[in-house]
Amino acid sequence: MRTLIRNATCVFPEETVRAHVLLDGTRIAAVDAPATARADEIVEAAGLHLLPGVIDDHVHFREPGATHKEDLRTGSLACAKGGVTTFLEMPNTVPPTTDRRRLAEKLARAAACCAVNYGFFLGATPGNLGELQAAERTPGIKVFLGASTGDLLVDDAEAQERIFAGTTLPIAAHCEDEATIRANAARLGGGRVVADHSRIRDHEAARRATRRAVELAHRHRRRLHVLHVSTAAELEVLRDHRRLVTAEVCPHHLFFSTADYARLGTRGQMNPSLKEREDTEALWAALAAGAIQVVATDHAPHTLAEKARPYPESPSGVPAVENALALMLDAVRRGRLTLRQLVERMCDAPARVWDLAGKGRIAAGYDADLVAVDLEREHTLRDAEQVTRCGWTPWDGVTLVGLPVRTWVMGRLVCAEGRLDESVRGREVVFAHDRGGYWA
Ligand code: DOR
Ligand code: ZN
Repeated sequence: MRTLIRNATCVFPEETVRAHVLLDGTRIAAVDAPATARADEIVEAAGLHLLPGVIDDHVHFREPGATHKEDLRTGSLACAKGGVTTFLEMPNTVPPTTDRRRLAEKLARAAACCAVNYGFFLGATPGNLGELQAAERTPGIKVFLGASTGDLLVDDAEAQERIFAGTTLPIAAHCEDEATIRANAARLGGGRVVADHSRIRDHEAARRATRRAVELAHRHRRRLHVLHVSTAAELEVLRDHRRLVTAEVCPHHLFFSTADYARLGTRGQMNPSLKEREDTEALWAALAAGAIQVVATDHAPHTLAEKARPYPESPSGVPAVENALALMLDAVRRGRLTLRQLVERMCDAPARVWDLAGKGRIAAGYDADLVAVDLEREHTLRDAEQVTRCGWTPWDGVTLVGLPVRTWVMGRLVCAEGRLDESVRGREVVFAHDRGGYWA
């Protein structure tokens, strides 16, 4: 199957220009094809921008164990709609992905049902070092330095030391200090209103754990990716470790602050918690400056019934995978970052952080994972139109300008104007973990 995408404004690694892009099978065959190139399908894309498919390297798709919230099929369809062509999923399912057998089971299930490309992190526990050392077919190791949804927690200093010293895969860390969280919770009687969430999981909890993770990475010369940075204080900690340590920010920490609890209630509850406006501003600045390299969603669906329980029984987490690209396109329009920076942070950098072979760029020989976006299209997000099984978004009612309108996965059109082709299947991502373990 050959597809010719004609006249789109293409965001290439070196320049943004109008071009004709030819897809052949699962690959990009040419980025400067003649307008008359032979193809089975011709897509006229004048007026649209063509970007590499978004790689969301931080999602929670709940299968196995909590498929009433989401499963690999619904999560992957939400990806396709949102212009996400590859996801990397976290291990805090039930049971958690903490050994090679469970990893193989997830991969087999994904092969059968996922509409986009997929990979799965392996979770660290205090006792599974042997599995972490022997693992293949995974982007890396997820370590929870503070407890969140599920029971993956490594807050024991010696166990943390063993993991950083004894493994070789890159490490993704959830950085909230468990002792600080517990002390704050005790002081606040466990918390009574959702705004207490930010007092319990406070700036100090984030700063301490990020400092600890960076210190471990530095001492053991290990590649570390700090997930969901939420405070200005963490940016200070990250400043001097660029080659070894990369960082992520999530849309909810960019677009919301504690001022939004009044409006969102527990729809604004996630881990790490929302922080202050000053933090939000610092995160945007760090993102534009490249001090934060990756935007990913931490898509963490829970049902509205679950979210409606009184705090602190309400679960932490918000869905975002199908709206993140549109949100960031709107941020480009408002001057928060450039389109090129968006592509670097959402497509190219995640591919390089996790050594994904053949992904993240529009270039000949790369995988034909692409998204066409309309930068002028106005659209209001609604709970009712969400593809994610949980059926809501914290951005319900928000009007954005800029929308993904076509998504190709490995050369096949999986979504056009919101209509999904349910026959398309993604592939298992291939990792090239042999670059020496540095971010360059
Ligand atoms: O808010 C969150 N929800 N943060 C996490 O770390 C986990 C996630 C989930 O799985 O619900
Ligand atoms: Zn997460």
